[in-house]
Amino acid sequence: GSIGKDGYRHYMEKELHEHPLVIGQTLQRMIDPATRKVTLPDLPFDLATVPRAVITACGSAFYAGMVGRYWLEEIARLPVDIDVASEMRYRNPPLTPGSLGLLISQSGETADTLAALRSLRADAIHILSVLNVEHSTMARESDVILGTVAGPEISVASTKAFTAQLTILACLTIATARARGKLDPLGEEELVAALMDLPSRAAEVFNQGAAIRQMASIVAEARDVLYLGRGSMFPVAMEGALKLKEISYIHAEAYAAGEMKHGPISLIDRTVPIVASVPSTPLFDKTLSNLQEAKARGGRLLVFTDTEGAERVSAIAEQVVVLPRVHDFVAPILQTIPVQMLAYEVAVLKGTDVDQPRNLAKSVTVE
Ligand code: G6P
Repeated sequence: GSIGKDGYRHYMEKELHEHPLVIGQTLQRMIDPATRKVTLPDLPFDLATVPRAVITACGSAFYAGMVGRYWLEEIARLPVDIDVASEMRYRNPPLTPGSLGLLISQSGETADTLAALRSLRADAIHILSVLNVEHSTMARESDVILGTVAGPEISVASTKAFTAQLTILACLTIATARARGKLDPLGEEELVAALMDLPSRAAEVFNQGAAIRQMASIVAEARDVLYLGRGSMFPVAMEGALKLKEISYIHAEAYAAGEMKHGPISLIDRTVPIVASVPSTPLFDKTLSNLQEAKARGGRLLVFTDTEGAERVSAIAEQVVVLPRVHDFVAPILQTIPVQMLAYEVAVLKGTDVDQPRNLAKSVTVE
């Protein structure tokens, strides 16, 4: 192709380094620089009165949607249904006409997501698609699109498109919350400031390269890895596990940290490293006690936290990566970057074909 690797070893490494840029470009599209308010294009429906949202997508885009659900429910108080597109399409759920259908796709061509879009449309659901390719089939068939300004993504495993999707969903949450009277101007100012702060905080994540490579050397030796997170950090754990499976071929499973005691805790021993995303949000203490339960059973804890959580995490973890402390709202966006970097470094150690993993396609156009 015409796009080079700019001296990086793989497109995936290059695209990982584009996270700060892409988040910034996407924010520029969504936030008016004069008023510092989120501005959406004209919508053919009213966010103030949509009864519910239905989110559907595949792969990484689905995990972005899961973070979106936490935000839309908690901040905008909008009830959300979510499922992967291949299930949403066939489980024939009772939908409330006039609901907001939120479709998320990098390519805009994924067959399952497109089929779900068409069936939601047929059920009188308003279709808002979050797309990276703005002249795609899904773009043509949506009522309105919000573009993730990520540029072309070459690596089969999605990286920068994912944080751009989260950035759009965060902005959509702010606009929805405002429309529904759940966010006053001061509240909006605070959340927008948190988003505007992200590109420079995201750039600081790359200072942790050595610590992430050290973590990777432990993960690369494992046959199975357990990823843990709570709340909006649960989908981040799922994204981390997916990325590891996709490009390093190591089996990984993500669990909501509080649910671990109902099953996977029986798997834990020295050979199953536990990768946990635990920034200092209100769920910090609860997650930490879940990690302590794992440690008591011989689990090796590899933890992503932030400057505020670093001391307490270091007391129990074997390896810690300390990220900048950001506003709770944007923590899942920041915490995604190091879990993707970890998967990348493990794949490099394993010597796999990072940009073209076996059996996977960039855009899956069959159901
Ligand atoms: C494929 C890719 C994934 C991607 C998924 C959804 O499985 O390998 O990286 O997340 O498709 O693709 P989309 O283009 O709809 O975001």
